Amino acid sequence: ACGGLSGGVTGSAMGQIGYAIAPMIARGIMLGPDQPVILHLLDIAPAAEALKGVKMELLDAAFPLLKEVHATTDVTEACKDVNIAIMLGGFPRKEGMERKDMMSKNVPIYKEQASALEEHAASDCKVLVVANPANTNALILKEFAPSIPEKNITCLTRLDHNRALSQIAERLKVYVTDVKNVIIWGNHSSSQYPDANHATVATTNGERPVKELDTNDHWLKNEFINTVQQRGAAIIKARKASSALSAASAACDHMHDWVLGTPKGTWVSMGVYSDGSYEIPKDIIYSFPVKCEKGKWSIVKGLKIDEFSRAKMDATAKDLIDEKEVAHSCLN
Ligand code: NAI
Repeated sequence: ACGGLSGGVTGSAMGQIGYAIAPMIARGIMLGPDQPVILHLLDIAPAAEALKGVKMELLDAAFPLLKEVHATTDVTEACKDVNIAIMLGGFPRKEGMERKDMMSKNVPIYKEQASALEEHAASDCKVLVVANPANTNALILKEFAPSIPEKNITCLTRLDHNRALSQIAERLKVYVTDVKNVIIWGNHSSSQYPDANHATVATTNGERPVKELDTNDHWLKNEFINTVQQRGAAIIKARKASSALSAASAACDHMHDWVLGTPKGTWVSMGVYSDGSYEIPKDIIYSFPVKCEKGKWSIVKGLKIDEFSRAKMDATAKDLIDEKEVAHSCLN
């Protein structure tokens, strides 16, 4: 989705999320009000005409920060010198399609885009994979772009994180800005584990654990987890289309915090290459609690994990290991 002075790419400028995120980036929501941007928009040939239309609209909006727009169907041109790559492009899962069929369409796309990024993007390019299966697409991208530092390849679980914050805010009847430090562990799929054990809420008596204020442990262990895990499906059912504005906004949040830092005392969830923290297997892209400073993320260490959490964290890790095997079988 964006490029140049700050940089970027999108697989799928013409998709729902691409159309929502382009103006957000051009308005400075992702990289702040002082950062000019050049947008590189990528889509496939059948979308070329529509892509021209989006470029016209972006120019017509006369965004002060938007210095150039490159709309293209050439992946090499799209990746040229970008500093930030938001990967939205992919083949959607259609009704009746098995997950494996969906992966067999998407995994080769990420292999191709990995090579293009590796050869043509700026050497410090930060990559955010949004397209599903997000964690596994990011892993394939990492495997086929070995010269991009693994720390620079991430996937989006911030939407799930934001959904968790908002569920708690609704439940406790507070503003979403009063709640912090939920965690999404693992896969962006429905095996993810939304964890509020370490979350806090601002009250007139200072910060208090969410667990203390919501004395109904049953809600946090059941309805809360299910609602966050199933929120994407609930939106598809209601809207007859998948989440787009919330996904675009979460992608901006992810990049914003990665580049500009997380506020003191606050962490966010990001899908990152596992270093074995919390006894999670290495060699998968797993969502962890992270803090960001000076353009670098680091996993928050030392949080106490109870038995309930342990089982859920391991189950979503197992789901990712299975997905990785399917992805590799799609490439063979
Ligand atoms: P969409 O179907 O509206 O857009 C996808 C776009 O990708 C289309 O414009 C298509 O032409 C383009 N495309 C297909 N193959 C391409 C290729 N090889 N290179 C470049 N572009 C290509 O989908 P939408 O709603 O914008 O979602 C995008 C992706 O994000 C989907 O995979 C969706 O499942 C995923 N998603 C992930 C979320 C997350 O939290 N991680 C949340 C919401 C959606």
